[in-house]
Amino acid sequence: MNYEEQIQRLVSISKTKPLLPENYVPWETPIDQKELFMPDELVSLYGLPEFDLLTGQQKREISRHEIVQVMYSYAWSESLLCLFLNRYILSLKTRQVEYQFLLRELIEEFRHQEMFSKAIEKLDGSALAPTRMHKIIGQFTVSRLPHDITFMCCLAIEMLADRYGDLVRKTPHIYPVIKKLLDLHNIEEARHILFTKLMLEKYVSKAGFIKRTIYSYTILINIYFFRTLYVKEQIYQRSGVANARHFYEKANSNYKKIFGKTCLNDIKEFVHEIHGFNWATRWAWRIFLKAEI
Ligand SMILES: [Fe+2]
Ligand SMILES: [Fe+2]
Repeated sequence: MNYEEQIQRLVSISKTKPLLPENYVPWETPIDQKELFMPDELVSLYGLPEFDLLTGQQKREISRHEIVQVMYSYAWSESLLCLFLNRYILSLKTRQVEYQFLLRELIEEFRHQEMFSKAIEKLDGSALAPTRMHKIIGQFTVSRLPHDITFMCCLAIEMLADRYGDLVRKTPHIYPVIKKLLDLHNIEEARHILFTKLMLEKYVSKAGFIKRTIYSYTILINIYFFRTLYVKEQIYQRSGVANARHFYEKANSNYKKIFGKTCLNDIKEFVHEIHGFNWATRWAWRIFLKAEI
């Protein structure tokens, strides 16, 4: 199959097998106290002595707030992606396969945002908004950077969302609303990731050392930036932890290790494929993302 045929196939799947969150996610399922919101291994304090000091209820509360924060962060990054894609498709012709696929991607991404916000409501969550700095960087990325770099940014976040979602949805006894929502997201994001990789191929194949280094740093910075949206001091306050500041500080550095160890597999593989690990980048991946490379 050539490039055009592959993308046409993705467009066709999106049209013939649409997954509507309204029907796909069992929204009416009540929350069972025995079910989990995420695996312990992904909770920011996991592995620290502080984690064992928490009561079962506090652990559950932290995981509820953290999954809410993760879903909100994805929805936020998806709305930034939609901003970029809306701008980008203006430069395409309607007959181009990229145009046709990106319209499908936009439709799906809007549905995802609605789905995440409904799930946050279902969990009775109250997500913490990104900081002013996050907003400035996010807006700058989607409106000023060259297209190939912005697509790299989007790909990094999509691969991250996919990996994280995979770890959660494959955990036994996850609350069914979260499980099905992540199943849906995984199916549709797999197509978005495939499309973006196919499309970036034309840029990557021509890239020399400097461009590959820039791509590697683009991905690294995005993940670093995105990671700072998850762990917030208010989460420990809301979960009834006595010394919230102390727990936050511990969790903040601990989470970097958890993240480096569990969430970067696919991303590292991709960076490796595009020859993005070299003497100029490898050290930064190890220091800033705690990546084992
Ligand atoms: Fe999405
Ligand atoms: Fe996507």
